[in-house]
Amino acid sequence: MSPARKALPPDFSPRDFRVALGMFATGVTIVTARTASGELAGLTASSFNSVSLDPPLVLWSLARAAGSMAAFSNGQHYAINVLAADQQALAERFAARDVDRWQGVEFVEGFSGAPLLKGCVASFECFNRSQYTEGDHVIFVGEVERCTRRAHASPLLYHGGRFYTEHPLQDSQADPTAPQPTDGRFVGSYLGYLLGQANHAVYRDFENAITAQGLTHIAWRVLAVLHDAALAPGEPATQSPGVAIGQLAHDVLAKQPTVTKLVQRMAEEGLVALHADPADQRRTLVTATPTGQAAASALIAQARQQETTLLARWSASEAEAFKRHLQKLASGQ
Ligand SMILES: Cc1cc2nc3c(=O)[nH]c(=O)nc-3n(C[C@H](O)[C@H](O)[C@H](O)COP(=O)(O)O)c2cc1C
Repeated sequence: MSPARKALPPDFSPRDFRVALGMFATGVTIVTARTASGELAGLTASSFNSVSLDPPLVLWSLARAAGSMAAFSNGQHYAINVLAADQQALAERFAARDVDRWQGVEFVEGFSGAPLLKGCVASFECFNRSQYTEGDHVIFVGEVERCTRRAHASPLLYHGGRFYTEHPLQDSQADPTAPQPTDGRFVGSYLGYLLGQANHAVYRDFENAITAQGLTHIAWRVLAVLHDAALAPGEPATQSPGVAIGQLAHDVLAKQPTVTKLVQRMAEEGLVALHADPADQRRTLVTATPTGQAAASALIAQARQQETTLLARWSASEAEAFKRHLQKLASGQ
């Protein structure tokens, strides 16, 4: 029989242990959750680390005595927000007691409801997969359902009980995985590829919302165009004359025969109405019915909400500039 395996008692003081641990430099996170009763929970944690790539797992540990233990141990989801170099004050605030940690903190609700803090360099939205009590802490293993990162942003660093706000690399080099214009790689730096990937990222979640309304992607685009046409200046929605099929095909990026068939089907489903153009009886004009308008309005609200989440890490002026560039590109200017 092999001898019982047991650790030897420590030959160092708790202080020595702390100081030795402090030699391990880390980033700083704020782990957040929204409890079932709707309250916000969040604390500063540097115990975050990666566990597995497939499936994507991360861990962090929480003191058993922590006030937020119930919120995290009972909840199904939480978000790990990796702080940026300019967020030291936030790290201090979310480690402090007897303060309102959330006062004036800008965040958006993540995919599963956990708050995503504005200005962070990365976020990991986790399913609360497992918990292990070890010593005076509980190790939380989270299965990452969504993750984002901000390119060219410096993380806040922590080591030896101090924060470091200056990244050793220049800001522009702080994202080691971002393809550099001169490194010769094509995939990942080519505009067409990037736009395709970005389009995929934007529509990945929204696709479900479209399907939930019983619509196809192209039918959604038709309703969105009709929604905007109804808002044309000077024309109250009810008096919109409608959009000609040729124009609709142009606006939804589809061929005219495809759109002709589609709007006939949508008319049978009660989503659109077809009228002959009074100025030219051979032309068909399309308008959204109240049912179509309601479907469009619901989806537009969801699209706006999702857009806010996607752009949350950027400043308002960065987001606006990005959209302006895309508009220019789209219009061929
Ligand atoms: C840089 C830094 C890192 C921290 N990391 C952790 C951690 O990983 N786990 C933990 O339980 N507490 C950690 N703390 C302490 C908590 O943030 C602090 O105890 C907080 O008040 C706990 O909040 P709560 O009691 O509301 O749960 C850290 C504090 C700082 C400043």
